[in-house]
Amino acid sequence: MGVDLRPIKAVYTADVAIQISPSILSADFAHLADEAAAVPTADWLHVDVMDGHFVPNLTLGLPVVESLLKATSTPLDCHLMIEDPDRWAPAYAEAGAGSVTIHAKAANAPVRTLREIRKQGSRAGLALNPAEPVEPYADLIGEMDMLLLMTVEPGFGGQKFLDLVLPKIRRAREMLDDRDASVWLQVDGGVSDETIERAAEAGADVFVAGSAVYGAQDPAGAIESLRAQARRAGGRD
Ligand code: DX5
Ligand code: ZN
Repeated sequence: MGVDLRPIKAVYTADVAIQISPSILSADFAHLADEAAAVPTADWLHVDVMDGHFVPNLTLGLPVVESLLKATSTPLDCHLMIEDPDRWAPAYAEAGAGSVTIHAKAANAPVRTLREIRKQGSRAGLALNPAEPVEPYADLIGEMDMLLLMTVEPGFGGQKFLDLVLPKIRRAREMLDDRDASVWLQVDGGVSDETIERAAEAGADVFVAGSAVYGAQDPAGAIESLRAQARRAGGRD
């Protein structure tokens, strides 16, 4: 038995209505521990893993995630924008990430991989890009703990929220409410004071925000402002 490095703050099965997951993509990579400490009220820390192939950007990988796990008690929400997640995703779960999300179109065996992630004790997420329909994944809802609908094309922070995803958020919310309302519905990309209300109104309940949090003078205050707006608009809290 090795030392259990899993974060203690996580309540993985909590039925929390609105959650904010600041993305460290917009943080200072040279001071990640400090940047994590700057957002003590964050429900998660969103970690964007990019491999330079699935998306045209390269960020960080498992060694950095392992170090970050030791540096913060906030659970990590690892968003894998990588090719071949079937091969790599289980290791993030095994390392102690609270949540591991793979992209549907990158996975050859999404059911097996989602099950592997859960078997390692993490929440399993499935992500769809803006142009990908949600309907083909209806039968996979029982295999996931979170559905991530990208509200920008993945790869970079600071992009504009794509309103064209709003109808899909509504359809996904209906689908989840029909089949398994305990599955969280996350949006990622362009979430800010200007856009969070419409995403929450459409039915999202977990909000990734990079530039809106780490680009703010007061990151912790930005989180509370986002949370308050989402609560008001979503009526899910
Ligand atoms: C984009 C990443 C996002 C990104 C969001 O591919 O998945 O998590 O950090 O950044 P903002 O909130 O600035 O759009
Ligand atoms: Zn992300």
